[in-house]
Amino acid sequence: MAIIEVEAVTYTYPGSSTPSLRDVTFSVEPGEFVALIGANGAGKSTLCYALTGFVPHFFNGEMQGQVTIAGIQTQKAALEEIVPLAGLVFQNPITQLTGKATVCEEIAFGLENLGVPPEEMEERIAHALELVGDRSWADRSPTALSGGQQQRVALACMLVMKPQVLVLDEPTSFLDPLGAHEVFTAIRQLSREGMTIIIAEHNIEWIARETDRIIALDEGKIILDGKPSEVLTSPLLEDLGSQLRYTAAARLAQARGWWPETRNLPVTLEEAEAGFRAGGFHGH
Ligand SMILES: Nc1ncnc2c1ncn2[C@@H]1O[C@H](COP(=O)(O)OP(=O)(O)OP(=O)(O)O)[C@@H](O)[C@H]1O
Ligand SMILES: [Mg+2]
Repeated sequence: MAIIEVEAVTYTYPGSSTPSLRDVTFSVEPGEFVALIGANGAGKSTLCYALTGFVPHFFNGEMQGQVTIAGIQTQKAALEEIVPLAGLVFQNPITQLTGKATVCEEIAFGLENLGVPPEEMEERIAHALELVGDRSWADRSPTALSGGQQQRVALACMLVMKPQVLVLDEPTSFLDPLGAHEVFTAIRQLSREGMTIIIAEHNIEWIARETDRIIALDEGKIILDGKPSEVLTSPLLEDLGSQLRYTAAARLAQARGWWPETRNLPVTLEEAEAGFRAGGFHGH
């Protein structure tokens, strides 16, 4: 049974004349790892908010259709009830961190609100920190951590709530390549452990390698939904400028008759290399 059901969701922000999500319908099975892609303004963040109850509960506005997570309709539930179902990690770790003196207090914050007993709290905090990196950060000040470490603490703040679904909105866009690599590694590990994950992300190469499925948005509508090998080779992505460079190179070769006819366009560097080799690009 699907863990997420999004049915005909159309949503307009207050004061806006055009919807930011238009008739969005899809469902996600437990354990799936789904990427959301699309140009700036396509509606990726808005969909992340709709999946975690911030739309409509925090942003208000006009919402039609419904989102159901683990059998609960988000429109009918309060935001506090939705957090343990679907937790959102924001783009900028600073948004998530509340200015506590230590990492441990920061991660404990959400649990205190849930009334979790102290012994269980300690155990859950240690486990969440282990999942994202390092137990030894517990007593450090969040401000003394690198961006990548801060984002992993933000991730731990969500994980400690044991959400059924983890939603991440471009969690690496404020990080340098090393910080991004650290966060990506933590996310991949969570996915391998069976967590259901939806991630809005610009790094198409990483998505192509790691995720099971890609949903592409354009002007609030789903234009593609399928396996990375299907979505990333669609000509529609050419227009959106979200094509992989080696897919684009292979497409050019194909137009000139150099790409082997029986081969699909590549979405990994290895597939590209094999295709060009088979097409006769050997070097001397
Ligand atoms: N708070 C808001 N009030 C009114 N309109 C908004 C608000 N937030 C976003 N929008 C509009 O909704 C549309 C979708 O925006 P959204 O932020 O979801 O796109 P995005 O795909 O996340 O873009 P980006 O890649 O820049 O993060 C845009 O047209 C944007 O201007
Ligand atoms: Mg966004």
